Amino acid sequence: MLEFSLTPATSPRPESERAQILSSPGFGKHFTDHMVTVTWTPADGWHDAQVKPYGPIQLDPSAAVLHYAQEIFEGMKAYRHADGSIWAFRPDQNAARFQRSARRLALPELPAEDFLEAVRSLVSADADWVPEPSGGEASLYLRPFMFASEAFLGVRPAAEITFCVIASPAGPYFAGGVKPVRIWLSSEYTRSAPGGTGAAKCGGNYAASLAAQVEAIERGCDQVCFLDAVERKWVEELGGMNLYFVQDDGTVVTPELTGTILEGVTRDSILTLLDDAGHKVDERRISIDEWREGAASGRIREVFACGTAAVVTPVGLLAEPDGETVIGGGETGPVTASVRAALLDLQYGRSADDRGWMHRL
Ligand code: COI
Repeated sequence: MLEFSLTPATSPRPESERAQILSSPGFGKHFTDHMVTVTWTPADGWHDAQVKPYGPIQLDPSAAVLHYAQEIFEGMKAYRHADGSIWAFRPDQNAARFQRSARRLALPELPAEDFLEAVRSLVSADADWVPEPSGGEASLYLRPFMFASEAFLGVRPAAEITFCVIASPAGPYFAGGVKPVRIWLSSEYTRSAPGGTGAAKCGGNYAASLAAQVEAIERGCDQVCFLDAVERKWVEELGGMNLYFVQDDGTVVTPELTGTILEGVTRDSILTLLDDAGHKVDERRISIDEWREGAASGRIREVFACGTAAVVTPVGLLAEPDGETVIGGGETGPVTASVRAALLDLQYGRSADDRGWMHRL
């Protein structure tokens, strides 16, 4: 197992500045005092594991990631409980998905124990940056990532890889806080095709979503919904979140994992939480017609999106070039609100962790 050396930041942010950031962190704007770096080469495997001052990474202009996007990442959070202890939610799932993403992007797999130790080491160095929840949903967002740092322009898997973890205090992902978001249906663009990288958490998937995200913003929407690339009919996911549909009979539907959808840790956890709450949960294909007609007729009562960053976010409107469909009167529905509360209660230690999902950091 890797051992991480610690080089403390010589000029960490003063306490007053940190307190000011933590009072209103936003999302992804501020970073802690330290970062993790680990290097991989074929000869030495994973080595040189460090926790060091946060700062720019020096890269050769020919570094393969800058040309061929051989890169993957994860999103997870550290939560402070009322007794001051700090916890991660199902980090083993992130470690396992990181390995699956690595395989798809021809990157070396980082052993799960090293992934977890990297996260633990960074959180321990920057523990003061984990916000008090104070009834809200503030946390320390953790971003492990791995990229091809070898200076080489040939197209082949790189022979030098850098793994990093950075951390960023976070409030709600959407600037408006927890209120129903507006979704733009992308008719021109798709996110992922069969055999592609849709199930991997790689930067390229997110880059491919941005032109559609620009369209969404131009139309006053917050996120894009992508359909499948073959029939342009089946709902897949949003640019960075999975989707759930609550029917009038209490059944909750989520698009099944077809290899083109990200296997969200939050998505998976919600399947269990809904089952606990007595809902029938259906993982199946759901067409855009079923969404549109169901929302208009009342058969679909609520739609919500979920992800580590967004937690559980209600969807209030589906916008398309030729019309709009309001969902659930544009309000947050009761199932959305209760699954959101159940998830946050677990993550912040306010309810019993019967499944051993929480991992003390
Ligand atoms: C996350 O939810 O952690 C993600 O990586 C998605 C991104 C939109 C922030």
